[in-house]
Amino acid sequence: MTIRLGDIAPDFTAETTEGTINFHEWLGDGWGMLFSHPADYTPVCTTELGRTAQLKDRFAEKNVKVLAVSVDGLASHKDWIKDINETQNTTVNFPIIADEDRNVATLYDMIHPNADNTLTVRSVFIIGPDKKVKLTLTYPASTGRNFDELLRVIDSLQLTANYSVATPADWKDGEDVVVSPSIATEDIPEKFPKGHKVIKPYLRTTPQPNK
Ligand code: BEZ
Repeated sequence: MTIRLGDIAPDFTAETTEGTINFHEWLGDGWGMLFSHPADYTPVCTTELGRTAQLKDRFAEKNVKVLAVSVDGLASHKDWIKDINETQNTTVNFPIIADEDRNVATLYDMIHPNADNTLTVRSVFIIGPDKKVKLTLTYPASTGRNFDELLRVIDSLQLTANYSVATPADWKDGEDVVVSPSIATEDIPEKFPKGHKVIKPYLRTTPQPNK
């Protein structure tokens, strides 16, 4: 099933390293990041899960719960976690789905047969409090994801969910943002009292409104 931005994230119940999880219930009113890994005991995945554990507090500050998935079993996940903790100097502190029957991988179209017939690609789904998919990313097995970029994207998604702004290229939290084209230039001062610049009639910037 192809999942597009704005779709409701498919719900599921799955066995994880932290017990049985019903996805929507587990998400509650917060944000979520569901991300897949090709397989246990593989080098890139080991570093990615370690990095996620190191960043757990940063995700939590943003009210984002993280949930990993791979198509190996629970015993394998639990044993591999010991290696992740040892080699990445961390403690895996988030659930990993044991998706042996590929239910979640199939629901989220995480197996791309022309890349690999059995392993999942590196998919990321960021889901908002309304359970809608806000972002999808797909990386090949050979490229580890940039977790600073994932945190940056979450900052942008959460900002643009609350204000009529967009974030420009390479934007980072705290930098000026772009005023949404739906706001007339004459209405900007009332909506964005911190000031604004009109660079072109269609390109107006303002200091980040929530800083
Ligand atoms: C890895 O996680 O290192 C990996 C997994 C599958 C293919 C290539 C690399």
